[in-house]
Amino acid sequence: MALLVQRPKGTQDVTPKESCKWHTVEQITRQTAEQYGFSEIRTPVFEDTGLFVRSVGDTTDVVQKEMYSVTAKGDASFTLKPEGTAGAVRAMLENGLMNEGFPQKVYYITPCFRHEKPQAGRLREFHQFGVEMFGTASPYADADVISLAKTVLDRAGLKNIELFINSIGCPACRAEYHKALKEYFESYKGDLCETCLSRLEKNPMRILDCKSPVCSKIAEGAPVILDYLCEDCKNHFESLKDILSSMGIAFTVNPKIVRGLDYYTRTVFEFVTTEIGAQGTVCGGGRYDGLVQQLGGQPTPALGFAAGLERLIITMEKQGCEFIAPEPCDIYLASMGDAAQKKCVELAVMLRDEGFKVEYDIVGRGLKAQMKYADKINAKFSMVLGDNEIESGSAKLKNMKTGEQTEISLGEGFADAFSDIAVADMFNLKSDTL
Ligand code: HAM
Repeated sequence: MALLVQRPKGTQDVTPKESCKWHTVEQITRQTAEQYGFSEIRTPVFEDTGLFVRSVGDTTDVVQKEMYSVTAKGDASFTLKPEGTAGAVRAMLENGLMNEGFPQKVYYITPCFRHEKPQAGRLREFHQFGVEMFGTASPYADADVISLAKTVLDRAGLKNIELFINSIGCPACRAEYHKALKEYFESYKGDLCETCLSRLEKNPMRILDCKSPVCSKIAEGAPVILDYLCEDCKNHFESLKDILSSMGIAFTVNPKIVRGLDYYTRTVFEFVTTEIGAQGTVCGGGRYDGLVQQLGGQPTPALGFAAGLERLIITMEKQGCEFIAPEPCDIYLASMGDAAQKKCVELAVMLRDEGFKVEYDIVGRGLKAQMKYADKINAKFSMVLGDNEIESGSAKLKNMKTGEQTEISLGEGFADAFSDIAVADMFNLKSDTL
């Protein structure tokens, strides 16, 4: 079949067969975030373009090359969010949440959009689970957020995910570092790509995460920020390492991690797997102590991370992790004839009111085809209604797994009687022992 319209490149459909995987990661991430004291925040899918230019930074790949922006009627420019932090910070400020006492802790699950070259684990529409914490500069906060990310990965059943940490310092130590970087890259001026040449003056650190093979090769020999940290940043990083060790969280210091977004200060970290190809960063984050003020708020230390849900799911699939199976149908009500079908509708309403998953024929199939359908949907029980059953006011309830049949009254007590039998089956008991 030649489809007239296909989904855009770099996007994915989640079909009913796959949606249980999404329910699994959404459940794990939500539950874990809430256990750590985070509450959900939801922000618009598009924001004023200026928000991302100011926060993510105008020399980053995300802003320079990857944003989906439109100029709406009039002249306002809007951008589909390429990440969750900027919108969360804006919303915290706009809703006065920074005045409600610290720490403030929020989480989100959101679609994000980046115009990148699609490949395994890299999409143009992807989804992030992220957390943001505001109002604490303590390294215990960094460790708490890293521990949350690790707990999510552990609960997803993932193994062999390495945690890399680094400190990229504060504006004070960054100035010295920028000088050293500039000096280093100046000698490769002839080889750097156009974009990096323009970054050389404004923000030489961005050259470190350029995706061009030539620039990344040159970047390999560049000075590392850890050698330029000021005393306070050094102490913060040492404390974080101590706390992580005392929490039993294994990590490797990787002085090359600088992250691709401009707002970071001090701690940055990434959880990386080698099992899903080149796009192995399942989760990344860090501190951004200057961003709240940069967006118009009071100086407020802050930090967070985001995990790509697609990358989480691909890694879980690769490692054979378990996903929550969808609940099968509790009972299929088969019918022969009009009166029986009406009765099925009545019984289904009763059972659904009690919370059971119920289906009956809505396509006009014969009895044999109805039972085949009951098998296909893995119904736990079935019941056939015809004129005889309507007349006698009772029918045979069949356990589809064991074949056991129980006569059950179709009167008022029907839902309770079914409930007793279904619960007994769940616990493998005889219903008369309940
Ligand atoms: P990020 O490293 O740009 O950080 O993205 C976080 C995660 O989103 C990545 O580790 C990856 O799993 C996923 N991701 C990013 N781009 C793609 C893509 N094109 N396709 C599929 N997955 C992708 C941030 O976005 C920061 N806002 C994280 C943060 C929150 N930092 C502090 N708070």
